[in-house]
Amino acid sequence: MADRRVYVDYNATTPLRAEVKAAMIEDFDIYGNASSMHAAGRLAHARVEEARIAIGKLLGAPPRDIIFTSGGSESNNTVFQTMRRLGSGPDGKLPAGGRTEIITTSVEHPCVLNSAAYLKTLGFNVTFLPVDEYGKIKMEAYKAALSDKTLLVSVMMANNEIGTIQDIKEIARLAKAAGAFMHTDAVQAVGKIPVDVEDLGVDYLTMSAHKIYGPKGIGALYIREGAPIFPLIHGGHQEDGLRAGTYNNIGILGFGKAAELAADSVDRYGRELSVLRKRLRDGLLAKIPNIKINGHPTDVLPNTIDISFPGAEGEAILLSMDIMGIEASTGSACASGSLEPSHVLMATGAGPELAHGSIRFSMGWGITQADIDYIIETLPPIISRLRAMSTLSPAQAGA
Ligand SMILES: Cc1ncc(COP(=O)(O)O)c(C=O)c1O
Repeated sequence: MADRRVYVDYNATTPLRAEVKAAMIEDFDIYGNASSMHAAGRLAHARVEEARIAIGKLLGAPPRDIIFTSGGSESNNTVFQTMRRLGSGPDGKLPAGGRTEIITTSVEHPCVLNSAAYLKTLGFNVTFLPVDEYGKIKMEAYKAALSDKTLLVSVMMANNEIGTIQDIKEIARLAKAAGAFMHTDAVQAVGKIPVDVEDLGVDYLTMSAHKIYGPKGIGALYIREGAPIFPLIHGGHQEDGLRAGTYNNIGILGFGKAAELAADSVDRYGRELSVLRKRLRDGLLAKIPNIKINGHPTDVLPNTIDISFPGAEGEAILLSMDIMGIEASTGSACASGSLEPSHVLMATGAGPELAHGSIRFSMGWGITQADIDYIIETLPPIISRLRAMSTLSPAQAGA
């Protein structure tokens, strides 16, 4: 194992920013139940509300339109389960002639894909929109799918694997014109690019603290005033009865601090991370033949670069890099014992070989040019060795 560690998996999760950690440690003794009337409860309540204000500010939303959840997965599930309620009649069955169509995309995070697939099993008509070679949704297919039966359009703002940014403003405009509700999973966008719910025109927006240097297990859902919402978790009266459960004080305070820092640094983040991204991209393109950069050339997250290395298998590259201290990820998931190719790359039309041999480098605060240069130095011999060992033909292997 190399002594040097270069963590380039910030889209999977981020470390706590030093200021977030310090704020959480300082407030660790705020133990009161934020719903209690006494002083300890009032102190906790005040801190929870301060965090809500910071998150609202980050999204350009009134704090009252934000509810806390356990993370992105729960926020997304809350929206889909709300649609389930809205689409069903009083008997729980889907009424004939009602709005029972859901439009989403083939490149969403599994928590959206599987929520949509579940509604499909209940009789909802679900469209998983196709995407182009860069991962952008095909607008013609979207327009064709929209109808007066569309209940919800759910399109992620930025893709976690390839970083492609969708035109949410236009997608929302069309959804609203059709009378549908508009949701965006902005888990990977918030903190990396400007996100403003008014400008986007969305009804629901999902975010998660651990992708913006906050703690894990805490997230938020923006719900435009007047948009319907039903609780996923029933119980006490927290969050106006929309999300029961004693407040996760420390998680919320850390989330608030992370949101405050993200709001102050989103422009600098874009500038600095895109310099590192370009350095990595140019360096690898110059040193390794036959590689393919996935995702949109310009509408892409500044910190994310996904690259296919034909002739070398993604997991083998990852393990070899890990030995050399580089921590990245593949798009593929280990499903039921077999390694599935990335559903995102498959949706872009990449064949299984490109989809299997892709690596996502996602950078963040703390990564230096020297770290990038270390990757550029370390990766070429790994790819050459794996390509030489590959059972694929030289043409397939890109030799
Ligand atoms: C686009 C996207 N949506 C949702 C999630 C899930 O968020 P959480 O881990 O907070 O449940 C993730 C996490 O990887 C993500 O990348």
